[in-house]
Amino acid sequence: MSNVILVGAQWGDEGKGKMIDLLARKSDVIVRYQGGNNAGHTVKFSNKTFILHIIPSGILHPGKVCVIGNGVVIDPKALQEELEMLRRNQINFHNRLLISEQAHLIMPYHRLIDEYLERAKGKGKIGTTKKGIGPCYADKVARLGIRVIDLLNDRVFRQRLRLVLTEKNLLLKKIFREQILSYEKIYKTYTQYRSLLKPYVRNTSIYLDEAYRRHKKVLFEGAQGTLLDVDHGTYPYVTSSNASAGGALTGTGVSPARIDRVIGVMKAYTTRVGEGPFPTEFTTSLMEIIRKKGEEYGATTGRPRRCGWFDAVIGRYSVLVNGLGELAIMKLDVLDELPEIKICVAYRYKGKTYEYFPSDIEVIEHGTPVYEALPGWQTPTTHIRKYSALPKNAKKYLKRIETILKTPISVVSVGSSRVQTIFV
Ligand code: IMP
Repeated sequence: MSNVILVGAQWGDEGKGKMIDLLARKSDVIVRYQGGNNAGHTVKFSNKTFILHIIPSGILHPGKVCVIGNGVVIDPKALQEELEMLRRNQINFHNRLLISEQAHLIMPYHRLIDEYLERAKGKGKIGTTKKGIGPCYADKVARLGIRVIDLLNDRVFRQRLRLVLTEKNLLLKKIFREQILSYEKIYKTYTQYRSLLKPYVRNTSIYLDEAYRRHKKVLFEGAQGTLLDVDHGTYPYVTSSNASAGGALTGTGVSPARIDRVIGVMKAYTTRVGEGPFPTEFTTSLMEIIRKKGEEYGATTGRPRRCGWFDAVIGRYSVLVNGLGELAIMKLDVLDELPEIKICVAYRYKGKTYEYFPSDIEVIEHGTPVYEALPGWQTPTTHIRKYSALPKNAKKYLKRIETILKTPISVVSVGSSRVQTIFV
């Protein structure tokens, strides 16, 4: 029996797509539990590259059931586009996609408010994906959300939309001084989405409980990363959901007692998209070198990712917050040519040393990273398939990460294709 949570242990984009693709083979059900189409999981499959934003990447595997849990926010337009993309590529998802009736819907005003709020913040902007994720989660908590089940009931939907849109139009007109939205237009569009969603909707908590009782293996697919978690990340520079392992429970209605393993995915270095503190960010030409070699451009927005050294302070914290039992270290090959590689083991600020991630944004912004420098291996690793065949200094680097994080590495990735994976 093995129910696994796979979680991003940095600021997202760790390579979860590839890991999910590998683990999906050994799973029966794959579940997304939070976030929305702000995510972008890249998977190479049958010589094609797929980027999935909302549907679990497991959908590429015939016979696997994919669930979009209650913790996810769904933009029906994005879902429609993704379903069409799957059809175009002859991926049969008939009877394999289930959508929680309790998931919240991203509405047109969410996308607009996301954009206007970012504009209003000026220099203090978060650097969101502008997909309406934050405003949708804000409405969920403010009890102004519209859920999938509400859309399926015409009377409830009309009532909810009227109530919420009245408030949103006031906001759009009086605060942002923008055009208001038409009730009739949204109603009509979303009524069409109702037919799109209906075949997939069900109570997914009950489905997952039944799957558990039938000894099915469930893989929980995290989106974004622990440091973007609204509770545990670099607040306010975070996304609006629980991207850490806890989100897998609240975002699906599955009990913690059902989870067997939590795997953390980390890059062999660190990246971040959008604004917010990043202590180990490169300030030298290494930024461009690593960005180019690692193809570090956002899968959803195309924005160049910020790059930096491996940060064991956030690594330690991720192990703690998620209860990571093992680590998958991705993109080791990107470091192949470097003569020296650094690991940040602590931050120093005003005479104090921080080994665990501090909550005070000022410490994270102005603290100085304390580095350990290790010799690089300056040998290609992309062709290596066995841990023992890795260069001596690459093994030293990985061992050092294991020792500092007190967590074993179970997977090392040395390229984007499935075969470029070393199981330790
Ligand atoms: P939002 O999730 O669109 O509200 O964006 C909030 C922050 O999370 C921004 O810094 C985004 O760049 C970041 N973010 C959201 N989704 C992802 C992701 O999938 N990978 C990396 N960063 C993300």
